[in-house]
Amino acid sequence: MKKVLSGIQPSGTLTIGNYIGAIKQFVELQHEHECYFMVVDLHAITVPQEPEKLREQTEMVAALYIAAGIDPNKACIFAQSQVPEHAQMGWMMSTLTYMGELERMTQFKDKSAGKASVGVGLFVYPSLQAADILLYKADLVPVGEDQKQHLELTRDLAQRFNQRFGELFTLPEPYIHQVGARIMSLEDATSKMSKSSPNPGSFISMLDEPDVIRKKLSRATTDSGREVRFAPAEKPEISNLMSIYSHCSGLSLAEIEAKYEGQGYGAFKKDLAEQVVATLEPIQQRYKEVRASGEIHEILRRGSEKARETASVTLRQTMEAMGFLM
Ligand code: TYM
Repeated sequence: MKKVLSGIQPSGTLTIGNYIGAIKQFVELQHEHECYFMVVDLHAITVPQEPEKLREQTEMVAALYIAAGIDPNKACIFAQSQVPEHAQMGWMMSTLTYMGELERMTQFKDKSAGKASVGVGLFVYPSLQAADILLYKADLVPVGEDQKQHLELTRDLAQRFNQRFGELFTLPEPYIHQVGARIMSLEDATSKMSKSSPNPGSFISMLDEPDVIRKKLSRATTDSGREVRFAPAEKPEISNLMSIYSHCSGLSLAEIEAKYEGQGYGAFKKDLAEQVVATLEPIQQRYKEVRASGEIHEILRRGSEKARETASVTLRQTMEAMGFLM
């Protein structure tokens, strides 16, 4: 069975971009793979987090995984900080990473742009991400398009380690949707939809009330035309909305084009809102039940125990190969 690993930062509410780019794929992959899905709280603290909020958001992400359909009896769900091997392996990987490689990372450039001071953690973040993946010798890493560069670095580090210390790591493959790998902001289709945006009108949260979703989508920016056609370069806004529609309805882009031929944007946007509501409402219902049940802590505890069984073996193999006393 192939191994799958991925993670989401508990750094704010999750958006429909996180759902389409990541969680939806996690749900699909769990049936035929050995899966590890993390809440990457160690990554979240690379930018300042309020302690109380970090705790709440960590529970929220884990509960959203389950609410969206990840079965904790099939997939291993855990919080990164509860598996100390991640921090240890992160250090090993940082010693193999070149400064120049980290300087080229676009996520670092974006997140540090315009800041007077930037934490070292934000800079070495991709080495920790590589550690996350290599600890489980993952074959597939389901992510959105923005993580591709981090995955390339992970492959480079795996190869570098294998060459220097002997064959140990699997080279992971990114697993990225063709449509919806990069859901864009509802207000500006040149920037990615992001949970850390200060402007809530730019994203749909997985926990937005139905009427909020309807309002946000009715206000979503579109061009001045009226043709519902998928053409990302020419019509980025409507193409972005079509990607969301496609993922929520199961219709292909061609089917959506045919359905709205000659109808203009109004009818399309209205139906889109109902598709998104129909996708998120059952998740929100289940989310409330999961939170009310109080079972999250126990699920995460069990998950971290299972994850440690694998992670501790790989860390030991890594350290042995590097020459540490064992
Ligand atoms: P994060 O928390 O920013 O995002 C979590 C996942 O959601 C995807 N995503 C999107 N996909 C499509 N459209 C969007 N607008 C959108 N926004 C976010 C991301 O691509 C990601 O898959 N570095 C990672 C977390 C991480 C990780 C890992 C991932 C840490 N260790 C190991 C995989 C494996 C991150 O910041 O994701």
